[in-house]
Amino acid sequence: MEIDRRAFIASLGGTAAVSLMDSEAKADSLEHWMEENLDKQVAANQAQEKFPTVAEIEAQIETRNYRRGAGTLFAGNNKMKKLEPMPKNPTLQDFFRLRFAPANHVLQSATRAMKTGMSEEIILACLLHDCVLSLIKPDHGWWGAQLFEPYIPEKSTFAIRYHQTLRFYPDADAGYEYPDQYFRIFGEDYKPPAHIEATYKMLKNHKWYMEPRLVTVNDLYAFDPAAKVSIDPFEDIIGRHFKSPKEGLGNDNSPSAHMWRTLANPDQPL
Ligand SMILES: [Fe+2]
Ligand SMILES: [Fe+2]
Repeated sequence: MEIDRRAFIASLGGTAAVSLMDSEAKADSLEHWMEENLDKQVAANQAQEKFPTVAEIEAQIETRNYRRGAGTLFAGNNKMKKLEPMPKNPTLQDFFRLRFAPANHVLQSATRAMKTGMSEEIILACLLHDCVLSLIKPDHGWWGAQLFEPYIPEKSTFAIRYHQTLRFYPDADAGYEYPDQYFRIFGEDYKPPAHIEATYKMLKNHKWYMEPRLVTVNDLYAFDPAAKVSIDPFEDIIGRHFKSPKEGLGNDNSPSAHMWRTLANPDQPL
């Protein structure tokens, strides 16, 4: 940060006041002044950010050679990488390592949920809530719930299915604000479609409202690239609540086994 010496000295009461300070006090004041200015700069940058409109986002469709709804295993801006084959009887952890990786977002959300003392069902829901984005993005709450439903507690499935709806509706009492990220990706004038509005109405009076709400509260939109996260702290919760099929995910004939197989083999042409 560039330091405006005059402004800094003036903030301390002028040169006369500064001359009475010892060097430690001066260093402290400088640090404090820099922190305050950094906060001001960040606030100013945020205030200046111009979010796109829905029409501007729509105009980008024909500039791409993929649809925004394609899962991250299927589309992106870079050349595809050859994927390591899955083991014979793949577990959830194998999918995390070989298909969902780096999975920072869900791992950070689950870490936060654990730190904030959430129930094990919610921690598990946070850990899994966006994994299906590797496969497909639109309606990812419903797709994600379907992917995991045969293996996890009902409350976790409920939380995954409906976090997609609740993230559009702030709830200050629960500590959830509408994320700036959504102004960026949906457009500043975006209105959720009718099925989302109807689902929100249903959820408002549902006895399990707080389950998906707590996923949104622990959903992190500002990723910390320096944070070190791993699946290890969640091994016990997975062991207690994820019914891992002995044949491996995808080989177990569950209602979502085909989705796991698609994740395992995204290069299959048909
Ligand atoms: Fe999500
Ligand atoms: Fe998320």
